[in-house]
Amino acid sequence: MCGIMGYVGPQQAAPVLLDGLRRLEYRGYDSAGVAVTNGKIDVRKAEGKIDRLANLLDDEPLHGTVGIGHTRWATHGEPSDVNAHPHTDPSGQFVVVHNGIIENFQTLREALQEDGHDFTSDTDTEILAHLVANEYEGDLENAVRRAVAKAEGAYALVVMTKHEPGKIVAVRRISPLIVGLGDGETFLASDIPAVLHRTRDFLIVEDGEMVVVTENGAVIETIAGEPVAREVMHIDWDAEQAEKGGFDHFMLKEIHEQPAVVTETLGGRLDEDGTAWLEDVHFDDDFARDFDELWITACGTAYHAGLVGKEIFRRLLRIPTTVEYAHEMRYNDPLISDRSLTVAISQSGETADTLAAARLAKERGSRLLSLTNVVGSTLSREADDILYTRAGPEISVASTKAYLAMLIAQYLLALRIGRARGVVDEGLAARVAHGLSLLPGQVEQLLHREEEVIAAAEEILDAEDVYFIGRGLDYAVAMEGSLKLKEISYLHSEAMPAGELKHGTLALITAGTPVIVVLTQQALYDKTISAVQEVKARGGKVLAIAYEDDDQIHKFAHSVLRIPRADDLLGPVAAVVPLQLLAYHVARLRGHDIDQPRNLAKSVTVE
Ligand code: G6P
Repeated sequence: MCGIMGYVGPQQAAPVLLDGLRRLEYRGYDSAGVAVTNGKIDVRKAEGKIDRLANLLDDEPLHGTVGIGHTRWATHGEPSDVNAHPHTDPSGQFVVVHNGIIENFQTLREALQEDGHDFTSDTDTEILAHLVANEYEGDLENAVRRAVAKAEGAYALVVMTKHEPGKIVAVRRISPLIVGLGDGETFLASDIPAVLHRTRDFLIVEDGEMVVVTENGAVIETIAGEPVAREVMHIDWDAEQAEKGGFDHFMLKEIHEQPAVVTETLGGRLDEDGTAWLEDVHFDDDFARDFDELWITACGTAYHAGLVGKEIFRRLLRIPTTVEYAHEMRYNDPLISDRSLTVAISQSGETADTLAAARLAKERGSRLLSLTNVVGSTLSREADDILYTRAGPEISVASTKAYLAMLIAQYLLALRIGRARGVVDEGLAARVAHGLSLLPGQVEQLLHREEEVIAAAEEILDAEDVYFIGRGLDYAVAMEGSLKLKEISYLHSEAMPAGELKHGTLALITAGTPVIVVLTQQALYDKTISAVQEVKARGGKVLAIAYEDDDQIHKFAHSVLRIPRADDLLGPVAAVVPLQLLAYHVARLRGHDIDQPRNLAKSVTVE
């Protein structure tokens, strides 16, 4: 999703903007550009990776200490030099970058064309530059206000004009925008990691607000012009965390961070007896006892974490629990009521569909708990309760450590609710707490078995299709394993409950077809083995994820990746690690761009 940067200060703007844009690469993009003001407005932009823009800037440098930059992820108009942001008005006196979608784009464009406006790009954004120029009467804030009053949709819009040097004006409707406060310099960005190495003090711009940025700081008001008092947010994340730290890819680095992430997410939140202390979960025991049903809503990997959550809540709490893709839930008139607790899961806390589903749940009277990795994200700000995952910034588009942290957080939440409801007794709570405390060590152990995973990756490297099977919690993990593989290796893969295989997909299993089976659920072991036998009988190549003391599996499987023995309820945590590594190594061996897979974006902030 598009990334935004802005800078006002004593330094040359272009290198600062470029550096910020590089740190936003994880959002995914197809083109990039920057503009500076210096008596006039100069723009450089290019389709493709930021390096192309950097080369362009080497050939034709920009001079000026005030500027805006953008990485674009195409929505209106193909990725191209022309469609890349920034966009100017025809006179070149106003320049904008924009993240989001202007929904009444066609109507606005036609109206402007009737008034004689010509457009150079196919974007919805260029219209905004024209509108601001039309509305300008000597005051940029007012011009922006009047321009956005005409636009419907979601946006973070950032504007500069040569008439008011030293100033950037931005407005936010839905798409994220933050301000970084430096010493005599101020930054604007769509995300904190863009400037975290430059400042730790931030202002978060909320929906419906405008911010005016100068070298002396930022003034926030509502778009309507009401003053807003915003507290400065101090962020403690280590800037190092946002760098690759010696690994070839962010994804591998993030996989290797998982033992620490589990420790962090558990830190200070769990007593040995299984009492959970969740600092921003504000509901009391009465609420925890009384609500009737749980809803979980999310997209992508976060949805898969929700599938694991459903099983955890179902088993530990015996509460009816529904997991819905957010993009489905927002339109399917869900039967959520004021007797529900809705858990919205999102690494970024900015996924448009997840926000919409969460808002719908609230409208229907549900209490909203946001499970997110990003402090101050929109999802966290709209929630009644927040459960932060503490995974640190996740840069790789394919999510790994955030997923694992989401699982850990859901165990904690289940313990918190289960103790209040009296359905998780002391013995069970202590057992789960003990199991959780072992996980950092177990995950660490798994990271030392990478050679075995590489051997398994070589086995499936040239497959056309890969199937993942499992039952219960293992099925939930299989879903995530399959998604990881397809995201970065571009192999076709599907996950299904082991029992479903014989109802159709078995027709696709022929000699050598890889089938990956997850086998942590002991109660269902024999049942799952029946499906494995069905695969074997058709010549399929079975790769099993199984406990280290499983002395049966080698009879059925072509190869086995061993995981440390755990309580079945916690099995998914260890089981997903070899699956993440498998996807990583298949993609690496196939020579792919692992951290930024084709067509995908880290954070999808449009519908
Ligand atoms: C995109 C990313 C996925 C992610 C999903 C949900 O599709 O590519 O990796 O799981 O969005 O993102 P969220 O930030 O809401 O967890």
